[in-house]
Amino acid sequence: MKKVFITANLPGKSVDLLRRDFHVEVFPEERPMTRTELLKSANNAHAIITMLFDKVDRILIESCQKLCVISNCAVGTENIDIPYATEKRIFVTNTPGVLTETTADLAWALILSVSRRLVEGDSFLRDGKFIGWRPLLLLGVNVYGKTLGIYGMGRIGTAVARRAKGFDMQVIYHSRRRNKDGERKIRAKYVDFPNLLKESDFLVITAPLNDESRGRFGIEEFRKMKRTSVLVNVGRGQIIKEKELAFALKEGIIWGAGLDVYEREPHVEEGLLELKNIVLIPHLGSATQETRTRMADIAVENVILALSGNIPKNLVNPKVLGENKKS
Ligand code: DGY
Repeated sequence: MKKVFITANLPGKSVDLLRRDFHVEVFPEERPMTRTELLKSANNAHAIITMLFDKVDRILIESCQKLCVISNCAVGTENIDIPYATEKRIFVTNTPGVLTETTADLAWALILSVSRRLVEGDSFLRDGKFIGWRPLLLLGVNVYGKTLGIYGMGRIGTAVARRAKGFDMQVIYHSRRRNKDGERKIRAKYVDFPNLLKESDFLVITAPLNDESRGRFGIEEFRKMKRTSVLVNVGRGQIIKEKELAFALKEGIIWGAGLDVYEREPHVEEGLLELKNIVLIPHLGSATQETRTRMADIAVENVILALSGNIPKNLVNPKVLGENKKS
């Protein structure tokens, strides 16, 4: 019987489906696996279902001689050495599409909680400090009618921008590729990167991590932004230089920030933890019951297809098809 190893407990019932035809092992603890544990458990698997914190590098791939498919339960796949997996004729799959709207909702949750100081307000009240309405109490900044800037107008960026209509906002964006469809449908205006920084009141990062986006936001960029602006990141942590962001927030170079992802996740820059004008949440972009269940279903389906000799639906490395696929 072929072995499927899953590095975390998944929601829903799809894992039961897998058990009908395969020997399934699941890492049972609610914490990321250590490197040693992962190397040991994945060793003789034909398929692994991985999370984005599992490093699937050359060494791991090399140690899994029977591996046919790496099914990442995420849309991002930067935790996997895709060129090497392709060279070893291993399918790599992801779970695109299903988390778009959920992540866009979360970007808006951050926009609103930073601009209206919701987290601060909640702590203030629980700490027994609410003694009555005061004209100067926890003043935020307006959202409606402002300019929303999107960095990375892919699926998630477009979904964030679409929601801006209800807030009567203007939408500008900067992306590696022009999104003409988005420009037409949501009346988003393409701008160059300096103008994105200069004109945005709310700048939301939804870009994936690549050579262009890595470290793109640092002190020089923050200095070009409005002092009243809010920066939100639901893309990838390494796009922002966290130490420099802490400095910019402390010095009032920008007004506030909301982060879901971190430069050295799960570590969070200490300077950020001390600040009140930032909302920090633990990578919850796709974290709803419906979406995480759907992601698990897709990750499982990709494994079933691959192990039964078919091409999985969400193939990230189609070049593997050109190679002589393992069966
Ligand atoms: C992904 O799938 O890449 C997301 O970051 C998970 O929430």
